[in-house]
Amino acid sequence: MQRTLIADALETENPREDITLCGWVRTRRDLAGCSFIEIHDGSSLVGMQCVVDHAGLAHAALDAVSTGAALQVRGALVPSPGKGQRWEVQTREIDVFGPADPQSYPLQKKRHSDEFLRGIAHLRARTNKYGAAFRLRSQAAFAIHDFFRNRRFVLVHTPVLTGADCEGAGEMFGVNTPAGFFHRPCHLTVSGQLEAEALAMGLGRVYTFGPAFRAENSNTARHAAEFWMIEPEMAFADLHDIMELGEALIRHVIEYVLAHCPDDLRLFDAYVDKGLVDRLAGMIVRPFARVPYAEAVRILKASGKIFIHPVVFGTDMQTEHERFLAEEHFCRPVIVYDYPREIKAFYMRANDDNETVAAMDILAPRVGELVGGSQREERLDRLLARLAELGQNPDDYWWYLDLRRFGSAPHAGFGLGFERLLMLLTGISNIRDVLPFPRTPGSLEF
Ligand code: 4AD
Ligand code: MG
Repeated sequence: MQRTLIADALETENPREDITLCGWVRTRRDLAGCSFIEIHDGSSLVGMQCVVDHAGLAHAALDAVSTGAALQVRGALVPSPGKGQRWEVQTREIDVFGPADPQSYPLQKKRHSDEFLRGIAHLRARTNKYGAAFRLRSQAAFAIHDFFRNRRFVLVHTPVLTGADCEGAGEMFGVNTPAGFFHRPCHLTVSGQLEAEALAMGLGRVYTFGPAFRAENSNTARHAAEFWMIEPEMAFADLHDIMELGEALIRHVIEYVLAHCPDDLRLFDAYVDKGLVDRLAGMIVRPFARVPYAEAVRILKASGKIFIHPVVFGTDMQTEHERFLAEEHFCRPVIVYDYPREIKAFYMRANDDNETVAAMDILAPRVGELVGGSQREERLDRLLARLAELGQNPDDYWWYLDLRRFGSAPHAGFGLGFERLLMLLTGISNIRDVLPFPRTPGSLEF
């Protein structure tokens, strides 16, 4: 049996005498001896209208055709007289795989709230908005792989289980192991960076694309306990190189989805975030802004804006500060660099002023921090001194320090939060709605 995807049927050039489609019923209307059944199979935002002449069809099959039922439809693909659609199916046969009781099927024709749909995450993919979000997620992932492969980056897979909080990026989840299994405590990784660095010091250019786990109990719209991160690491590169790389990556993904996901983006533009498409297109015409941290603090202080968190030199920027810079001051993504060393991780390369490190964050409108990265400290003496300052035991970092003992070289990398990027691309304002099954405090149902 040859089944056609609706996305392919919609792009057909000529009418077809015989076509078989499958999908879930979105709507059914009955009119003067005819039924109009719209089915969706997930391959496209637009569904297929199936017209059923009651005279030609056994009524038993039609009885089970209600919103949510899964069907197979066979008939002829013909030009549609209806507006807004090129083709429709003149239906000869309907087989119902699985009915859906109209009394209890939770997805009604009306628009449901995001909160309600989070409670039925197992059915969300059947709605226009979440179907679009998850298709776009897939396209964006391919765009990212595309980008790195074209630049000869090697995709590497770093471990999810880790034995040390080398990174200090956030609170970790513990993993229960049989007694003595690893001879040390085991956690879920917060970042693959340290391993990526080791691989870059042999493969030159690498990137990871995998899950990261952070147990901060921050119930915000931008933090998930499990999220996906893209972490490129480049040998023989400095801070400037990864600023270029991060900006080029974001621009590439924006261009890619503008070209490959026009229907899904139109939906977000119409129902989620008015003006989204123009704003995305605008983001790729001008270079991102770049500003040192000290200058960013001056801008924030001079803004006259009342922030919930006061702006203090030498403290980490809050989302409200990041958003002000990107949305109101620069009106485009902005790269902030040269952060005070005290607020940044031990592995970031010290600048000559001894006050700042060669770190950079890319801040985006509506999203805030999208990327965090740095040039890494490649000088063994500097790194040892920093660990000592922080009261860390260098033995815990023996292999990381080895990379500085044998063939050390300047290198740099960053982490891009995939969900934050998807929030930028879709206009969806809560991270829970770009993850199929979000893990956040109190949420582990699905
Ligand atoms: O800035 P972060 O903590 O950087 C690192 O983890 C470095 N090791 C990356 C590197 O240099 N290889 O995290 C990187 C990005 C953030 O900019 C943000 O986009 C995202 O990861 N992120 C989160 N996304 C969703 N939920 C969370 N809880 C996140 N924490 C960080
Ligand atoms: Mg960060």
